[in-house]
Amino acid sequence: MHVLIPAAGSGSRMRAGKNKLLIELEGESLIYWTLKSVFSSSLVSWVGIIGQPNDKNELLNSIKGFSSKVQWINGGETRQESVFHGLNSLPSDAKKILIHDGARCLIEPSLINKCAQELEGNEAVVLATKVTDTIKIVDDKGYIQETPNRKNLWAAQTPQGFLVERLRKAHLMAIEKNWIVTDDASLFEILNWQVKIIEGNSSNIKITTPLDLKIAKLFLKDF
Ligand code: C5P
Repeated sequence: MHVLIPAAGSGSRMRAGKNKLLIELEGESLIYWTLKSVFSSSLVSWVGIIGQPNDKNELLNSIKGFSSKVQWINGGETRQESVFHGLNSLPSDAKKILIHDGARCLIEPSLINKCAQELEGNEAVVLATKVTDTIKIVDDKGYIQETPNRKNLWAAQTPQGFLVERLRKAHLMAIEKNWIVTDDASLFEILNWQVKIIEGNSSNIKITTPLDLKIAKLFLKDF
């Protein structure tokens, strides 16, 4: 299985003054922990890491021995653009792809395997968890518009897996039509292409704020 790791963000919500994936937890960078899990999956055969050129040396140094096993790809201004660069850098034998955010460093290898296996029978899969909060849709002035039924609500995570040709086509259409999305599954939804949900777990958080770092530190102690 081929895996792309978007790691080209600026980390502004973390207020760390650098790419949040370079922040150290338990003695290693966030991106190191992500790659450790990815390479623990027996189904993973190729990994591309998508980063900003000015982070290249620091990111590759921080992943230590994994650096010789990954393909470096220059990222774009948005996650969507970064993934598109990744798709254009895949080896020609890549028919299926898992995309996993570098910022989800607590992913369990068994869930990476589960996504890869489910991709055998589906054109697109997304790891997700059932929402436990009651979610409100709120207008720009701060007033509630609607409360969607919780039983149909899932929080999307990564990995997200796709047939490469389909995802490439979806990205090309997005460029043509100016669709802006925050995950790849959204492009399939716009196109009315089926995406299968795979139930994951809530420890697979995306490290975004300083609070997330504290939570991740607790989980990493158990790794
Ligand atoms: O900012 P956020 O955490 O939502 O980004 C999700 C993932 O996408 C992160 O791993 C981040 O490094 C990556 N990203 C990227 N290129 C960008 C912006 C974000 O690869 N231009």
